[in-house]
Amino acid sequence: MCGIVGYVGKNNAVLKLIKGLKNLEYRGYDSAGIAIYNKNIEVVKEKGRISHLEEEIPANLVGNVGIAHTRWATHGVPSKINAHPHLDNHKRFAVVHNGIIENYLEIKNFLEQKGYNFISDTDTEVIPVLLDYYYELHHDVLIAFQKMLKKIKGSYAILVLAFDLPNTILVAKNHSPMVIGLGYDGIYVASDIPAILEYTKDFYFLDDEESAVITDKIVFYNKDFEKIKKTSKKIDWEMDETSKNGYEDYMLKEIHEQPSALIQTLNGIICKDKPISFVNFKIDKKYLESLRQIYIVACGTAMHAGLVGKYAMENLVRIPVSVVVASEFRYQNPIIDNNTLCLFISQSGETADTIAAVKLAKKMGARTIAITNVFESSITREADDTIYTHAGFEIAVASTKAYISQVGIVVALALYMAETLNGLKYEALKTELMDLPKFMSDVISNENVYHKLALKMKDEEHLFYIGRGNDYNIALEGSLKLKEISYIHSEAYPAGELKHGPIALIDKGTYVVGIITDDKIALKTLSNLEEVKSRGANIILVTNQKLKEENVFIIPKISSILSPILAIIPLQLLAYFIAKEKGLDVDKPRNLAKSVTVE
Ligand code: F6R
Repeated sequence: MCGIVGYVGKNNAVLKLIKGLKNLEYRGYDSAGIAIYNKNIEVVKEKGRISHLEEEIPANLVGNVGIAHTRWATHGVPSKINAHPHLDNHKRFAVVHNGIIENYLEIKNFLEQKGYNFISDTDTEVIPVLLDYYYELHHDVLIAFQKMLKKIKGSYAILVLAFDLPNTILVAKNHSPMVIGLGYDGIYVASDIPAILEYTKDFYFLDDEESAVITDKIVFYNKDFEKIKKTSKKIDWEMDETSKNGYEDYMLKEIHEQPSALIQTLNGIICKDKPISFVNFKIDKKYLESLRQIYIVACGTAMHAGLVGKYAMENLVRIPVSVVVASEFRYQNPIIDNNTLCLFISQSGETADTIAAVKLAKKMGARTIAITNVFESSITREADDTIYTHAGFEIAVASTKAYISQVGIVVALALYMAETLNGLKYEALKTELMDLPKFMSDVISNENVYHKLALKMKDEEHLFYIGRGNDYNIALEGSLKLKEISYIHSEAYPAGELKHGPIALIDKGTYVVGIITDDKIALKTLSNLEEVKSRGANIILVTNQKLKEENVFIIPKISSILSPILAIIPLQLLAYFIAKEKGLDVDKPRNLAKSVTVE
């Protein structure tokens, strides 16, 4: 999704900003732009890649203050005109913005009646024009900025350069992330930590409705524009984590990092012969006894991790669990009271729908727990408790290691609740979970097998994934990975459901991927595969059973509660190699963004 970088300092802002934008490239974007203050405000913007923007930046464009943006289109097609920064009619203000200004049409009408013109289709353009309108009235940039913030509604992370305020960046945030970093050569501001991590480890996190004026120092304001003090926090992430480390793509690197990600995730939570415990987070027996239900709310892959959590919790804890997509949860009037526990899973911790769902659940009286990978992300400030997944940076848009870590956490949470409620020890399951990283490495090392099959499958147009129980949860995630990065249409079905409609689509040569990891239902899924085979389908099997099929990926045998952690790996690698064979950019699939900060 859109990325923002700003710099005020001693060095040439152009280089800093371009580097910052490149650090955010992984998030997905369709156009990019930059504004530099040097006597005048100069704006350069282009559709397409940052490298394209770089080619258009004149060599004489230098300055110590600037703002930059990568845009992922929401209002208006990807184009040079719709790219940020946007200017007002008098070129007094340049603005970059993440989020959506919900009342932009009303503001636009108002300003048009006052004689102002608009050239783009974006909601963002109302911001500089509104600033200009207030500036005409008050002749004071700060007053204009604060009046503008009072008027706009919606989500935003905004940076402003003002002609009348040299060496200054104005910043505002509401429901869209924004961090400010103190570097040795200046002050940096960005929508995401990785953009500026190579320059600073010292970060200020703006809260909703806060704003700031950055010069050679930072002045912070609360929502009533009173000056406030904030303390910075040290981030101990290493920039190395953001390199490809010799791999062709981030996605492949992150698939290979899954065993170590799971070790980091479970470190300190699960130890042999000790009860499971979480840092800074406890659930007691009395509370668990009072629980009527658990909700797990998330989007996309994180929601699929939630489904695995439901399987583990319902099997081990015997409390009903509902897994709901966040964008549905927030509008479906969920049945929630004090006896409801709500878990929210979000790799980025910035997904707009998931954050809105946390707020709703909290308001309705539930206890809320966020499970996220990103330190200090917005969700951590909304939920009652946070559990970090510690998967390390995930840069490829398609989630792999973050999914494994999410599954690790929800299963550990299920075991923790079961131990607390039942007073039992689940040593066998815990040992299996701790042994998983070495099994995962074995499955990953079979890379060539998946690659060979991918060569045969790269021209397919449709694919089906089927499974039962937890195997169906794996099918859903495997199917999502394939469509995201290879653009092949694929669907996942509970195996038994196939003959209730979808089997009509099975034709000679259609590939059907079956997942069979649960002894209890293995033969059932196998007979569903026979049904499609007899209609001409090609079968691919991911299984821990001794089954004879042409294309079988054998994975080690473990409990069905944990099987997703192993069974997803062949499906991730199959999707990866198919996309590579099609010559696609696996790290930045079309139309997708790494964090979805708009509804
Ligand atoms: C798929 C993928 C997405 C995300 C979803 C939620 O590979 O990455 O489906 O899982 O957009 O994102 P987070 O977890 O950041 O809330």
